[in-house]
Amino acid sequence: MNIVLMGLPGAGKGTQAEKIVEKYAIPHISTGDMFRAAIKEGTELGLKAKAFMDEGKLVPDEVTIGIVRERLSQPDCEKGFLLDGFPRTVPQAEALDSILEELDRPVEHTINIEVEKEELIARLSGRRICKTCGASYHLIFNPPAVEGKCDKDGGELYTRADDNPETVTNRLEVNMNQAQPLLDFYQAKGVLTNIDGQQDIDKVFADLDALLQGIRS
Ligand code: AP5
Ligand code: MG
Repeated sequence: MNIVLMGLPGAGKGTQAEKIVEKYAIPHISTGDMFRAAIKEGTELGLKAKAFMDEGKLVPDEVTIGIVRERLSQPDCEKGFLLDGFPRTVPQAEALDSILEELDRPVEHTINIEVEKEELIARLSGRRICKTCGASYHLIFNPPAVEGKCDKDGGELYTRADDNPETVTNRLEVNMNQAQPLLDFYQAKGVLTNIDGQQDIDKVFADLDALLQGIRS
């Protein structure tokens, strides 16, 4: 089961990915999470990515494609994977095709979670993330049971560095510019499904789950 989850910043990729990987037991590969981990560890990759992320810009394709190539080559991806936030540009999509061809594994399906811009801004401005496991919450739409603590492991919740209003505006603009050509690329291949992301979290998951059941069978 090889799945690509797409959607603008705040569409709910991470939130839905958590649920999908729990049910389908495939690795969750988020390029954003990989960059944040590298920044935390102070690696060379982290140093390269930080300046772009802080400004809400895309990390250059050659850096991003390299880390995805390495990750997809690992044995836990042999039975499938869920890519979250990659590809984001047509060159990344073309690179993914060649990586998967080399590994003899086609992309089975690309799913685009659709949400309006105003809703995305509301979601990103109230988001909180667990410092320990990266789980995503929202102050109003998806609050934790205990304020400031993760439901899963009690980890402290924090606001992501790129969720300030100025960076959010840049992220949305940058990603909106890239989104349509990418959707056209997968539409032309006949492997794209759009999901209404403007419903509550469980309803979006029910739609995704129905789609994934169909793909698996
Ligand atoms: P990344 O971490 O992927 O950020 P993003 O694309 O901006 O997406 P988000 O993680 O902000 O949103 P999400 O869709 O996961 O939403 P979430 O589920 O958290 O990338 C960060 C940066 O890394 C990029 O800006 C770029 O610099 C770099 N990067 C990453 N990948 C790259 C690539 N391929 N190429 C180049 N650069 C790359 O939900 C958001 C909020 O909404 C939460 O509070 C959640 O609780 C709430 N919520 C979720 N669903 C619902 C719902 N249905 N109803 C109400 N609230 C909801
Ligand atoms: Mg995310």
